[in-house]
Amino acid sequence: MSGRLSGKTAVITGSGRKAGLGEAIALQLASEGANIVLSDVGSSRDAATPDAMIGQAREMDEIAATITAMGVRCSAQACDVRRRDEVQALADHAMDTHGSLDIWVNNAGIGYIVKPLLDVSEEEWNAVIGVNLTGAFWGVQAAAQRMVRQGRGGRIVNIASQAAKSGFPNMQAYTASKHGLVGLVRSAATELGEHGITVNNVCPNHVTTGLGAWQNEYFAKRQGKSIDQYMQDMAARIPMGRPGLPRDTAAAVAFLCSDEAGYITAESLNVSGGEEPH
Ligand SMILES: NC(=O)c1ccc[n+]([C@@H]2O[C@H](COP(=O)([O-])OP(=O)(O)OC[C@H]3O[C@@H](n4cnc5c(N)ncnc54)[C@H](O)[C@@H]3O)[C@@H](O)[C@H]2O)c1
Repeated sequence: MSGRLSGKTAVITGSGRKAGLGEAIALQLASEGANIVLSDVGSSRDAATPDAMIGQAREMDEIAATITAMGVRCSAQACDVRRRDEVQALADHAMDTHGSLDIWVNNAGIGYIVKPLLDVSEEEWNAVIGVNLTGAFWGVQAAAQRMVRQGRGGRIVNIASQAAKSGFPNMQAYTASKHGLVGLVRSAATELGEHGITVNNVCPNHVTTGLGAWQNEYFAKRQGKSIDQYMQDMAARIPMGRPGLPRDTAAAVAFLCSDEAGYITAESLNVSGGEEPH
């Protein structure tokens, strides 16, 4: 398929859950011609990866079939991003199966461990930091190692959040992990620029994915509102008058992965309808 990303291979972590941002990003990059490596944890590993909240292997296979039908090559591999060896194996899979690694999107994230600061356990803190920040670093490292060896540049994008710029109640580890990604891209960009590799964050505001729907229920209940009222209040404080959609984030990622964005690095780009202005 021809498009501004044709001939590139893109890995997207956490992309095996239907209606998630990872799926939307994979579909967008495929529609622009990229060959796609889908990846998700695939099945529950422990308390931090409950079946109801993670992408299952069969869902990932269904998304892979949709992408293959679009006319690009697509493969899928399970990977728990907390495990450096599994992230390295995922990068090797991209090289072995598709012959190159040009785009890496760290999308995997835990946003469902949400509770008051006074009650957070050591396991809960470590799980969120382990996926959202450490997992993203393993991805940056695995991708950059191969992109440097390839010698033709590359694009690394993390899906951070509005929580990379502002604080939110009951989300201390989430907010800290996403703020951490701002520092990670600023540091990584200084080392990888000489190799033609850009490293950026996309920072969406609320999007009603599976994770987003769970958060709507949680915060509506906490504020004593119906979900409808909670969503209306959210829309009212966003200059563009609505929450984000998966395609808003996917379009920003595709732009940052394109040749046109070759001089943009170390950035944390808000995709928030104006809700997050800094
Ligand atoms: N939905 C929102 O409102 C919103 C807003 C801003 C940022 N984000 C971020 O966008 C990303 C995608 O979120 P989403 O809303 O699509 O939710 P989602 O739950 O659909 O996607 C998260 C994915 O991460 C995967 N994952 C969890 N633990 C993993 C692990 N250990 N290894 C590999 N994969 C793992 C899940 O299986 C899931 O597929 C996350 O990083 C999230 O923090 C979401």
